[in-house]
Order: sequence, then structure tokens, then C-alpha cells
Amino acid sequence: MIIEATGKSAHSVTIKRLMKFFLDSANLAELKDAASWGIVDGVTTNPSLIAKEGFPVQEQVRKICDIIDGDVSAEVVSLVAPEMIVEGRRLAAIHKNIVVKVPLIPEGIKAVAAFVKEGIRTNVTLCFSAAQALVAAKAGAYIVSPFVGRVDDIGWPGIEMIDDIMTIYRNYDYKTQVLAASVRGPLSVIQAAKAGAHIVTLPYKVMQQMFHHPLTEKGLEQFLSDHRKVFDLVNA
Ligand code: E4P
Repeated sequence: MIIEATGKSAHSVTIKRLMKFFLDSANLAELKDAASWGIVDGVTTNPSLIAKEGFPVQEQVRKICDIIDGDVSAEVVSLVAPEMIVEGRRLAAIHKNIVVKVPLIPEGIKAVAAFVKEGIRTNVTLCFSAAQALVAAKAGAYIVSPFVGRVDDIGWPGIEMIDDIMTIYRNYDYKTQVLAASVRGPLSVIQAAKAGAHIVTLPYKVMQQMFHHPLTEKGLEQFLSDHRKVFDLVNA
């Protein structure tokens, strides 16, 4: 929607795609405000974000789907595949836009393969390496979520992980979308866009920071003051 990337694949086919902005929040007020800007394509939640709001995941994501018309990731909390599958089916039944979020562990990958057969879309989360992202793509994940900020937090360049994943996916034409998660500020968003990530999920605060530039505010103040000097006098 906002940022358009054009490039050549290994087979010289021109790829044209648009970077999607998701909001990384389960807070309804934040979601309503951000939705009013018209640039939010979807939502990611996780068990911590849902717990912060204090309502059961089913109830909260249903309300989120009423606010944002786009993919809404809702995460399972079971740790074994059969239970994840039951939980994921229930989540997917809430709304057509639900994407079932599954942790990147062997049981999660088993569940992803089962979801693929049932046509349930998945977001494989807690990805911290290109090797893990390759596993997610092989299982048929709809989205994989590499956590850029948490990798940065332990002193590794998180963005290099996105670069590597993009290269690997392009090499083999994997259809899994790469969602840059755990983003701490606009710089990470720009880096993710330069790396060609399909989606970036932004906390509300980072989404607000994307608009901000001191020269915009200063310039606007000057324009309005110049305008007032002439036209407020004329209209007085
Ligand atoms: C991704 O979908 C996660 O919800 C999220 O980006 C985690 O970010 P954090 O590291 O800020 O908790």
C-alpha cells in the first residue's frame, strides 16, 4: 500500500509488490486511531499483548476484526500439535481474516502442516534465524515472523536475518511472506523495507513516530504563520 518494491527474481521475472503495515497491538483504542489513518493493512497480537487487555483471546480478536479489515494474527498457547490444531481451528472460526499464529518449535511446525491441509493460514512466530525461517517456509507457512528487535537486543544485527531470509525465499520462490516483527523504531522499518520484507508490524508508538519530522512541523508552522499574516488582516 505505502512502499512499492520492484526487483528481479533469479529467473529475471519482474516482481512488483507492496509493503504492508500491520499494527502490533491488541488495544482497541490504538487500533481505532491507527485505522483512521488509512494505512493499516492488518494486525498482529501475541499472548502478552492479549493479556495486557484483560479479555479472552476469542473476544478480543473478534473486536479487532471489526476494526481492521485485514489479516489478524491470533496465537495458540498449547505446546503440542494436536492441541494447537484444536485451538487454531477455534481461532480460525472466529473470522475469515484470522491467521493462526504458531510458535516455531517442532510441534508448531507439525501443526502448520495440518493447517495447510485444512486451508487455515498460519503465521509462524518467534523466528530468530534464517534456518528457522526456511523450516517455516517448507512447512507452508503463510507468514513467518522474524523478531528483529529481540535479536538486536542480544547484540546481533537483526536486519541481517531479514536479508538472509529474503535471499533464501527468492532463491526458491517460497510464497511465505516475511513479516519483520519486534520493531523498535522507524529505522528498523526502513531497514526492513530496504531488505524487501513483505510486511512490517509496528507498535502504535512506532507507527506514530513514522509521521514525525521536526522540519515538517517547523515548515507547517511557518506556512500557517505567513498565511495568517496576510489573510487574517484582509479578513479582519
Ligand atoms: C510479533 O508478531 C510480536 O507480537 C511482536 O512484534 C513482538 O515484539 P516485542 O519484541 O516488542 O515484544
